[in-house]
Amino acid sequence: MPTKKLHHFSSLFIALFVALHLFNHLCSLGGAAQHIAVMETLRPFYRNVFAEGLLLAAVAVQVVSGIRLFRATRVPRRKGFAALQRWSGLYLAMFLLIHLSAVMAGRYVLNLDTNFYFGVAGLNSFPFNLFFIPYYGLAVTAFFAHIAAMHQQKMRQSILGLSPGAQAKAILFIGILLTIVLMYGLTNGSSRRHMRY
Ligand code: HEM
Ligand code: HEM
Repeated sequence: MPTKKLHHFSSLFIALFVALHLFNHLCSLGGAAQHIAVMETLRPFYRNVFAEGLLLAAVAVQVVSGIRLFRATRVPRRKGFAALQRWSGLYLAMFLLIHLSAVMAGRYVLNLDTNFYFGVAGLNSFPFNLFFIPYYGLAVTAFFAHIAAMHQQKMRQSILGLSPGAQAKAILFIGILLTIVLMYGLTNGSSRRHMRY
């Protein structure tokens, strides 16, 4: 299968997981207990051998095919969304490798439950939050930037008078808003009060 098709195909599986994952993090707005309750409801769907095996394989395919696309699209003067697609992809490659290594090491080496407390530990302790807030924030924004760039490239029709370019900007804007709301939910007083690590 050509690299671009492979990248597109595995992205569907990852995007489904990320949608559920970010919804789960959004639930931190309702407090730690709500975040944990939603994670416990979702885990049977994504943390069984079959789904998790597929998800981790899709991430590997996404990163390897993405880096090949990044190298193949090294064209001078790639601007706007075309450039954003390459650089957001590169950030996602780095983020996914670090994030998954941390989650797996937390689970299998440190024997921790990688739940809400694991996720918010670095986000709520100074000076580690100086790294973790931009690290997670950029990942969420990069994910939306990557999807917005794909939309701008593929979409041909206007919706409600918005051109494909304006629609892509709207997707990016929603991503930035969601990043701010998520970072608020994961670092607000109630998340800090529930810190255990
Ligand atoms: C969260 C994971 C990711 C998702 C959901 C995703 C999704 C997509 C999609 C749907 C496309 C459009 C493909 C097409 O035109 O049919 C695309 C393009 C692209 N992706 Fe990703 N991707 C992800 C991660 C990555 C990573 C890790 C890289 C590494 C650098 C990357 C680099 C690229 C590049 C360079 C293109 C543009 C290809 C071109 O213009 O020919 N992506 N991505
Ligand atoms: C707000 C930022 C984020 C935080 C705080 C966070 C936190 C976490 C935590 C705590 C887990 C462990 C889940 C469990 O044990 O059930 C996890 C797993 C995971 N996260 Fe994130 N995450 C964030 C953003 C992202 C993004 C943007 C992506 C993808 C682009 C992503 C991809 C994954 C993947 C693939 C897993 C592994 C799921 C598994 O197999 O158990 N995360 N994350």
